[in-house]
Amino acid sequence: MSLNDLIVRRALETDIPRIYDIEARSFLEPYSKRLLRFLMLSSPDTFLVAELDNLVVGYIISTVRYNYLGHILSIAVDENFRRRGIGRLLMLNAEERLKHLGCIILRLEVRVSNSAAQNLYLKLGYKKAYVISNYYKNGESAMVMFKVIG
Ligand SMILES: CC(C)(COP(=O)(O)OP(=O)(O)OC[C@H]1O[C@@H](n2cnc3c(N)ncnc32)[C@H](O)[C@@H]1OP(=O)(O)O)[C@@H](O)C(=O)NCCC(=O)NCCS
Repeated sequence: MSLNDLIVRRALETDIPRIYDIEARSFLEPYSKRLLRFLMLSSPDTFLVAELDNLVVGYIISTVRYNYLGHILSIAVDENFRRRGIGRLLMLNAEERLKHLGCIILRLEVRVSNSAAQNLYLKLGYKKAYVISNYYKNGESAMVMFKVIG
């Protein structure tokens, strides 16, 4: 697999089953298909998929809040395609689009136990800001991270 063959594009309704499949295998508390559909309709420019040989291998969901704050809501890569730079490319692509839409700050929340994702964000220049206790349904805390892009 070469990253040169990877296409990052807006997600389509027809991608929902595959996105949900990756979501359900990647998260303890996955978003429902209904919520994924809602997010696709409400943030069509910043809900993106990574596609390789016509197969969706990852996705990122982000949105614009208050005209200036970009919020990364979810990112996941199919476990068979991880550690090849796809997560990084999805993040960079979403950041570019959020910047184009006027965002100057990016925010995300990540489980305190999720060191893989935290490493990805730290490498991309996100800074750890504060912890929200009991953020997830199972009681786990979230680390809130920010990146200034403006
Ligand atoms: C987090 C996730 C999206 C990363 O996707 P990916 O395509 O594997 O990430 P990349 O290959 O672009 O990795 C970029 C960097 O992130 C860090 N990283 C990624 N996975 C890691 C792991 N398992 N352990 C430690 N660091 C990791 C590394 O610094 C890596 O750079 P390197 O490979 O040169 O060392 C993927 O692991 C995933 O889908 N996890 C399950 C869902 C999830 O936790 N999403 C985040 C919710 S906040």
